[in-house]
Amino acid sequence: MSNYSSTKTEIKNYIRARIPLIIIETSERERAERMLSAIGNELSADIYYYTDTTQVTRLSGAGERVDVSGDPVPYISGLFAKKRNVIFCYGDVGKIGEDTVYSREIINALYSAVRSNSTLILITKDPVFSKIAQFGMIAKLDYPDLGERMEQINSFVSQFKSLYTVEWDDSDVVVAATLLSGFSEIQINNILSNEISSKGGLYKAEIPRLTAQKSKLYGTVPNIQQVNVPNDMTASGLENLKQWLKEKEPVFFATDDKLSRYSLSAPKGILLSGVPGCGKSFSAKLIAKEWGLPLFRFDIGSVYDKWMGESERKMKEALDFIDNVAPCILWIDEIEKALSVSHGENDTGKRILGQFLFWLQESTSRVFLVATANDVFQLPAELFRKGRFSEVFFVDLPNADERRQAIKLYSERCLHVSLNAEDLDELVRLSDGFSYSEIEYAIKEIAQLVFVNGEDSLNMQAFRDRFSLVVPIEKSRPETVSKIREWGRQRAVPAYKDDRGEK
Ligand SMILES: Nc1ncnc2c1ncn2[C@@H]1O[C@H](COP(=O)(O)OP(=O)(O)OP(=O)(O)O)[C@@H](O)[C@H]1O
Ligand SMILES: [Mg+2]
Repeated sequence: MSNYSSTKTEIKNYIRARIPLIIIETSERERAERMLSAIGNELSADIYYYTDTTQVTRLSGAGERVDVSGDPVPYISGLFAKKRNVIFCYGDVGKIGEDTVYSREIINALYSAVRSNSTLILITKDPVFSKIAQFGMIAKLDYPDLGERMEQINSFVSQFKSLYTVEWDDSDVVVAATLLSGFSEIQINNILSNEISSKGGLYKAEIPRLTAQKSKLYGTVPNIQQVNVPNDMTASGLENLKQWLKEKEPVFFATDDKLSRYSLSAPKGILLSGVPGCGKSFSAKLIAKEWGLPLFRFDIGSVYDKWMGESERKMKEALDFIDNVAPCILWIDEIEKALSVSHGENDTGKRILGQFLFWLQESTSRVFLVATANDVFQLPAELFRKGRFSEVFFVDLPNADERRQAIKLYSERCLHVSLNAEDLDELVRLSDGFSYSEIEYAIKEIAQLVFVNGEDSLNMQAFRDRFSLVVPIEKSRPETVSKIREWGRQRAVPAYKDDRGEK
C-alpha cells in the first residue's frame, strides 16, 4: 500500500476512535489538508480547520469563516468546552517542541478535548513536546513514494500530451519517478511544469537533468561534493564494465514491487581496483553518465574528528544527505585511505566504518556506491563480505588496441589532428606499458609545446620525443604493478574485454 493511502487509513482510524490528539508529521501541508478533506467526506464528519491566512474554516461540512485574529487556541478551547465530538485541525501550529507558554495553552486545549470527546489534529514538521505528544498518536506523511510519483507523472502526462510533445513512455516514467524521489508533490509538479514550459515538452534526453535542483534543495554537507560529469565522455576499452552496467541498469531503476516478485534487490555498488592511472576515477564518472544520475564524491576521511561523538554525527549527517539526494552515484575515491584508520586500536575509526557498512547494507534508497582502491591490500576484510559490493572490477594497463583508441582520442581532442594508421602503429609500439594517464599526459605536453611554438611544431618527431621521455609505472614500480595485477586477476572481474593475450 502506498504511503499516502496507508497514512490516510491510519488517521481515519484514529479519528473514528476519538483519540484526543493526532499529530500529522509532514512538510506537505496541502497534501495533509487534502487527505483530511477526503477523510471528512468519507466519515461524513465536520472538520474545522485553521491556518493563519484562512483563519477558521471547514475542510468538510459547511460553516462560517471565523476570524480569530491569529490566535486560534482560545477559540479551540472554547469550542471544545461548548460542543462535544468536535474535530479541529490546526494547520499552522507554531513551534511546540519545548515547554513554553504556547505549549501549555495547547495542553489545556487537549484537556478540554478529552472532556468533550473531541479531537485536535496538528500538522507539523517539527518535533513535538513530549507532554503534548502523550495525548495522542503520530502519523507520518512522507513525501510521495515511487508508486505515487508514477501516478502523479502519469496524470501530468495525460493532461498535457495533446498540447506538448511527450516522448516519455512507460519505462521513462519509471525512471523519472525514481529520480524524483525526495521531492514533495508540489515540487514534482513544479519541476514537470517547468520542464514543459521551458523545453516545450517532455523529452527522453532531458530526464537525467530533472534532478539538477536536488542538491541545492538539500543544501550542502562539507564532506560531500557534487561532481560534474561531462556529457561527451569517450571511453576506450572497459567493455565488460559497460556491458555489466547495461544489464544492471533496469534492475537499479526497477520498482520495489517488481524486484520483490523476483526476490531481487537493487545493485548496491562496485569496487574498482587496479593499476594507477588506468581509469578508476574515470569509470566512476562514466557510470554516472551511462545511468544519467548525479555523481557525489564522498570524502569519507574528513568525517573523522577528534571530538567525542563528532565523527558519528558527521557521518550521520552525510548519510542522511545521501539518502535525500538518492537516486545517485556515490563515489568514494581511494577508499583504503579513509578506512585504514579503522585498523588497530582506533575505536572511532572502527565505529565509523561500522556505521557506514551498516548503512550500506540496510539503506533502501537507490544509491549506487562506486568505491575505488589503489591498494586493495589495505582494505578491511569485512568490506568484501558477500552482498556489500555487487561486483569487484579490475582495471589494467591498456592493451595495444585500447592504447590506439586513447592516442587517437587525445590527439584529436587536444591537438586536433587525425593520425594515419602507420603513425598510430608506431605510437602504439612506443607506448607499450603506458597507463591511460601517461598517454594523456604525454599528448597534453605536446599540446603545450604546440601552444607555445605554433602549429608548425607538430610532427611525428614531437610525438616520438615526448613518448620516449615517459617512464611508465610498469617500469618504475614493477613490483607494485605485478602485485596489484595478481590480486586483480584472482579476486576481481576484468573491467575490459578479457583477452589480454599479449601480457
Ligand atoms: N578507458 C579510458 N578511456 C579514455 N581515457 C581514459 C580511460 N581511463 C582513463 N582515462 C583517462 O586517463 C586519466 C587517468 O584516469 P583516472 O584518473 O581515472 O585513473 P585512476 O585509475 O583513477 O588513477 P589514480 O590511481 O591515479 O587515481 C584520466 O584523465 C582519464 O580521462
Ligand atoms: Mg583516481
